[in-house]
Parts: sequence; C-alpha cells; structure tokens
Amino acid sequence: MTQAPVEDMELVTVPKSERSQLEFILDESFEGLYLWHSRRTLHNIELVRALRSSGRFLGLSMVKMVAEGSGYVYYVAVPLQSRRKGLGGKLLDDALAHFDELHASEVFASVGEDNVESNALFSSRGFERTNRAEIAKRHGQIRTINMYREMMVVYGEILLRKELRPDVPTL
Ligand SMILES: CC(C)(COP(=O)(O)OP(=O)(O)OC[C@H]1O[C@@H](n2cnc3c(N)ncnc32)[C@H](O)[C@@H]1OP(=O)(O)O)[C@@H](O)C(=O)NCCC(=O)NCCS
Repeated sequence: MTQAPVEDMELVTVPKSERSQLEFILDESFEGLYLWHSRRTLHNIELVRALRSSGRFLGLSMVKMVAEGSGYVYYVAVPLQSRRKGLGGKLLDDALAHFDELHASEVFASVGEDNVESNALFSSRGFERTNRAEIAKRHGQIRTINMYREMMVVYGEILLRKELRPDVPTL
C-alpha cells in the first residue's frame, strides 16, 4: 500500500470516544497480557496521542505523570506496515515535548528486555537503563514504591529513564 506523504501527517490528541479506532494498532503490536492491558489502558488513560494521515491512524502513544516531575510513556505503537519510517520516533518526541511542557524533570518507560525495536526506539532518544535502587536513591523509598505501582513494571521488563532537566529535590 502507498504511504501517505509526510507533510500530510498530523499529531492529534484522541478523545475517549474515538479510541476504539486505535485498537487495531494494539492488536498488531502486543499479545497476551500486554494486549489486554494496553487495550484497557487505551480507554482509561488521560492522554492518548496519535499520528494521523488522510484519516488513517499510523501510530499512538499513551502517556501519564506517575509522580510530580516524573512522566511515564506507557505505550508507543506503530502498525506493522508503517514501522522503520521514523514514526515511533516522532511519537516519542511528541511525548517528551508534552512532559517538558509539564515541567517534568524525568521520563520513564519500561520495555521487555528482549524487545529489540522498543529498546532501539528509546535509546535513540537518550533513555538509559535504571533500576529501583537508583530511583529510591533519588526520590526515597515511599515515592519509589508509589511510582512502581503506577508504572506496573513486570518481571522480564527493564526500566528506562531520560532526564529532561536536573532533579528538583522531592524529599
Ligand atoms: C517500537 C516501535 C514503536 C518503533 O516504531 P518505528 O516507527 O518502527 O520506530 P522508528 O522508525 O521511529 O525508529 C526509532 C529508532 O529505533 C530504531 N529501530 C526501530 N526498529 C528497530 C529494529 N527492529 N531494529 C533496530 N533498530 C530499530 C530505528 O533505527 C530508530 O533509531 P534512529 O533514530 O537512531 O535511527 C514499533 O516497533 C512497535 O510498534 N513495536 C511494537 C510495540 C512496542 O513494542 N512498543 C514499545 C514498548 S511500549
């Protein structure tokens, strides 16, 4: 199928009433528990952004704040036939701009350790591996527990972090 020209592409916020149109992207991108959770999150999360071209959706991101100053990219997904064309990167740049506008000092993402494309996507934007001990050192145990609960990092996933601006002390 012919790809729409890049200049035709726009980044939009998708209201809850229109999000079922994005489910096909999740169906192509995830399976099992991840698919179930991503579909549930799609309909509940506050902010869903999408790339649209000539009325067709070409990718989505789901983002939220998990604590004051700390953003989280829940999901980024691009339909199979539109991958490796820079669209995931555009969506991630858009998510980072959103968190920057909210004056976040850091952004997290969790990815499957063996998920080559998502590790490549996040490392292309400067995300680096972190862990619970490092976060606790920065923010304290209680806030770290709460953040992990919000992020729902599961076994087999690694946590990535990108610093947007120097930390404001939170203790
Ligand atoms: C991860 C995903 C969103 C990437 O989307 P994409 O549109 O193909 O990504 P881009 O073309 O913008 O590539 C972004 C970067 O990742 C790299 N990359 C993407 N896929 C890659 C692959 N399979 N192997 C190696 N590098 C890859 C690109 O080279 C690029 O790096 P660069 O900017 O340094 O050149 C897409 O593969 C996807 O939807 N996967 C399934 C869902 C998922 O796992 N999401 C992430 C976790 S929530």
